[in-house]
Amino acid sequence: MNADFKTWASNCQSHIETFLESHLPAANTTPERLHQAMRYSVLGGGKRVRPLLSFAAGELNQADTARVTTAAAAVELIHAYSLVHDDLPCMDDDVLRRGKPTCHIAYDEATALLTGDSLQSLAFQLLSEECLADDPSIQLKMIKQLAQASGSRGMAGGQAFDLDSVGKTLTLPDLEFMHIHKTGALIRSAVMLGAYCGGNLNDKQLEQLDHFAKCVGLAFQVVDDVLDAEATTATLGKTAGKDAENNKPTYVSILGVSQARELADTLRQDAFNALKDFDDKATRLRQVTDFIIQRKF
Ligand code: IPE
Ligand code: IPE
Ligand code: MG
Ligand code: MG
Ligand code: MG
Repeated sequence: MNADFKTWASNCQSHIETFLESHLPAANTTPERLHQAMRYSVLGGGKRVRPLLSFAAGELNQADTARVTTAAAAVELIHAYSLVHDDLPCMDDDVLRRGKPTCHIAYDEATALLTGDSLQSLAFQLLSEECLADDPSIQLKMIKQLAQASGSRGMAGGQAFDLDSVGKTLTLPDLEFMHIHKTGALIRSAVMLGAYCGGNLNDKQLEQLDHFAKCVGLAFQVVDDVLDAEATTATLGKTAGKDAENNKPTYVSILGVSQARELADTLRQDAFNALKDFDDKATRLRQVTDFIIQRKF
C-alpha cells in the first residue's frame, strides 16, 4: 500500500470514527444496555471499506467532506447492523467479530436483535436530518438507494438466499446473485451515496461509477470467501473456516481458491475499465479497489 494512500485512508477512518462516536447515543443514556451494545458493535473496529469508497467517490464528484462523512456513516451503520444479525445463532452463529466477542455473546440475543434494528434506524435518521445534496430530490434518491440496498431486494434478500443455500451446490449465476445482493448492494450504495453528495458528474458518468461499484461489490465478497478459507482466526478477527463448517456455498467451494482469486482479479480489471474515462480523477477509487482485492483480513 503506498504511503500517500495509507495517510488518506487513515484520515478518512478517523473522520468516520469521530462522526460515529458523536452521533451514536451516549452509553449512559437510557436504555443504557442497548446504547452500550450499539457503540460496542460500531466503534473501534472494522476496516471501514465502505466509507473509504464513499470518500473516494465523493472526491471524484467534488463533494463536500462533511456531507460525505454523514452519508458514509449511514452506510457503515447499516453494515454494522448486518454484521450483528449475521453473527446471531439463527444465522451464521459466530462468536468472534473484529477481534471481540460478537454482540449477542457480549450482551444477549435480544439486545443484539435490537442493536441491529436501532443501527438501521439511526442510519436513515442521519441520512434525512441534514442537507446532503443541493437538490432535495437527489437526497431523496440517496435515501431510497440505501433503503433498497438494505432490504429484501438487496442485503437482507441476499442473506435470505444465503441461509436458503446451506448444504446446496449453487450454480455460478446463483452464487453471483447471492453475493451481489448480500454484500454488493451496500458497497454500491457506499459509492453512489458518496458521489451523490457532489454535483459535477453527468448521468453517463454516474452509470460508469455504478458499474464500477457493482464489480467491486462482487469482488469484495469473492475475497471474503477466499480469506475465510485461507486466513487464520487471529488475522481475520472472526472465526476462520466458518463457511465450510456451516456448509455454505462460496466461490471457494465452487471454484477453488486459485480460480476464485483469478475471478477477483478479473473483476478488478472490469472495475478499472469502468473508470477509464475519469483518468487521474479516479486514482483514489482504484487505490481502494486494490486495498479490497489485496487485503489480508
Ligand atoms: C464483512 O465485511 C462482512 C461482509 C460483507 C463480507 P468487512 O470485511 O467489511 O468487515 P469489517 O467492517 O472490516 O469488520
Ligand atoms: C455477510 O457475509 C454479509 C452480510 C453481513 C450482509 P458473511 O457471512 O460471509 O460475512 P462474515 O464472513 O461473517 O463477515
Ligand atoms: Mg453470513
Ligand atoms: Mg457470517
Ligand atoms: Mg464470510
